[in-house]
Amino acid sequence: MAVKISFPLILVNLKTYREASGRNTARFGVIIEEVSRKTGVCIAVAPQPLDVVRVAEVAEVPIIAQHVDPVGCGQFTGHLPPESFAMAGCSGALINHSEKRLDMKTIEMTIRRVKDTGLTSIVCVDSIETGRRVAQFKPDVVAIEPPELIGTGISVSKAKSEVVSGAVEAVKSVEPGLRVLCGAGVTSGEDVTIALKLGAEGILVASGVVKSRDPYETLMQLAGAARSPNG
Ligand code: G3P
Repeated sequence: MAVKISFPLILVNLKTYREASGRNTARFGVIIEEVSRKTGVCIAVAPQPLDVVRVAEVAEVPIIAQHVDPVGCGQFTGHLPPESFAMAGCSGALINHSEKRLDMKTIEMTIRRVKDTGLTSIVCVDSIETGRRVAQFKPDVVAIEPPELIGTGISVSKAKSEVVSGAVEAVKSVEPGLRVLCGAGVTSGEDVTIALKLGAEGILVASGVVKSRDPYETLMQLAGAARSPNG
């Protein structure tokens, strides 16, 4: 059964990191569930498609598809329909991640398909302007991630605070109810605290957790900061 997403949200993207793929994936599911239970903060995980079920079998956490195609069930060999992820127990889907870019038409079609399926649509954007354009398609969440900071350990909330607050303002001027997350380079509780102060309702993180010497401890710090937004 899909687990409901709530905010503030920490979304851990496992990408295709070896440390978090195949048999290693379950470990992250278990850690995420434990930190979430201890802190009360919603922590979702985005595993590779082939690892979705591995997480669903061991952990009760929201699972997010890393990518879906704007197709349905039927004659779509090799595609990734949102329905397949819903059937596997996913709660949402990333669309247009920086490492899996789509054109505007495809983004619009994919948002529609994801919504039809009842999954939460989380659209990644690389700029304030793209955020504004995507907001018109009414996804559930927009995630601002400046690509040049991804994987650097330099947090978007510190290094590009104006991009985070600008994206929040732009997106909400189009759709006031739309949620905004930010990501890229997040590694510490302080990064999360600043992100929330800038108006984001959560963060996306990958290397800061997956490559951490102690993913559990790192996640405890991130979630602790999300639970007490005033630091
Ligand atoms: O999806 C989150 C991601 O792109 C951010 O990556 O490694 O900078 O936390 P990272």
